[in-house]
Amino acid sequence: MDGSFTRRSFLAVPGALAAGPAILSGQSPNEAVRVAFIGVGNRGSYLEKHMLDVPGIQIAAICDINPDTLAAGIAAAKNRGHKPASYTDFRKMLDQEKTIDAVVIATPVNLHKEMAITALEMGKHVYCEKPMGLTPEECNQIFAAAKSAKGIFQAGFQLRHDPARAAAMRFVHSGGLGKVVYLHGTRHTGDLPRQTAWYFNRAISGDNIVEQACHIIDLFTWAAGAPPLRVYGSGGINVFNDVPPGRTTMDNYSVVYDFPGGLRMNFSHIYFDPPGFSGIHERVFGADGAIELSTAIWIARDQKGEKKLEVPNAGKDSTYLSLEAFIDNARNKRRPLNDAESARRSTLVAMMGRKSIYEQRVVSWDEVSR
Ligand SMILES: NC(=O)c1ccc[n+]([C@@H]2O[C@H](COP(=O)([O-])OP(=O)(O)OC[C@H]3O[C@@H](n4cnc5c(N)ncnc54)[C@H](O)[C@@H]3O)[C@@H](O)[C@H]2O)c1
Repeated sequence: MDGSFTRRSFLAVPGALAAGPAILSGQSPNEAVRVAFIGVGNRGSYLEKHMLDVPGIQIAAICDINPDTLAAGIAAAKNRGHKPASYTDFRKMLDQEKTIDAVVIATPVNLHKEMAITALEMGKHVYCEKPMGLTPEECNQIFAAAKSAKGIFQAGFQLRHDPARAAAMRFVHSGGLGKVVYLHGTRHTGDLPRQTAWYFNRAISGDNIVEQACHIIDLFTWAAGAPPLRVYGSGGINVFNDVPPGRTTMDNYSVVYDFPGGLRMNFSHIYFDPPGFSGIHERVFGADGAIELSTAIWIARDQKGEKKLEVPNAGKDSTYLSLEAFIDNARNKRRPLNDAESARRSTLVAMMGRKSIYEQRVVSWDEVSR
């Protein structure tokens, strides 16, 4: 194959498929899946709220080092009739709560590796928030642990389950836009919430291209169906110098990736956009038209007027759908759509952009994927 993005090559990539076949015998459909949470802050509390709506689960235990956050997480579960045990040490929780089947990890990025690998090695199913880890080495270690684990690993790239984006991606992968030639993304959103200090510390978050932009990079890498060849990026802090104090994360950057077959990806991310200049775009351009992934609206290149794809499950929350899929995948030991392989690939694509920006040079895929 010459690496070009034909309809056939899209259909051939594993990421283009829905969850794969059952790979091992699973849990009885009558038994509740006993779920534990590690980290119930901003994201973890949202995951818990949606997990409580997934049929057939029991919240067995919750761990957080912040007592107020932990109490709120316990209260949310108790309000829905669950009786979770309460922990501040995740190892103690995993050691003592022997009947836990699945663990949801929503802690700062620098903790993902230790927590995910520990849970996987104890035979648990793991739903770990994005990005996969802080460095390529961490991603490789989690990937290796997931490969040999008894349980499944699903990453928090929940936008793959978003109804509009899923419909848009099916359209792209089935050749609806012709050959895919250009991916264009912008994320201009104003700065992150200042009360969460670690968001601004790149030693903990991995910097914004890894911690924040990994979602859109995941979607584009899924659309491309292959990792990029090389990237050049430029970025830094132009406005929020020492805001908040000690900030080490960029407030703006742009990256251009070359994929096989001449496909290009261009993404810009800025945090100092004034009102009226903000916006998020996830646009896939094919030879015959272009689509906005988040709305599933597309326009043919030589015709006037927008067309909206039919979107099954329209309006359903992507986080709920991702967690529902996680529980189903865990029960049936099915390979998740957002599995360890795709999470590793997408996180590494973000990391090669970060490396290029930091080192001010073109970086190849081989440099991060070895
Ligand atoms: N998928 C998404 O759309 C999405 C959205 C937001 C955040 N995230 C991801 O979720 C993760 C958490 O982000 P957040 O915004 O919730 O951060 P947060 O700081 O609000 O929450 C992290 C929680 O982890 C707890 N914690 C820290 N160390 C711990 C430890 N050793 N043991 C147990 N708990 C510990 C903290 O007390 C806190 O409650 C990150 O990986 C982030 O990138 C994903």
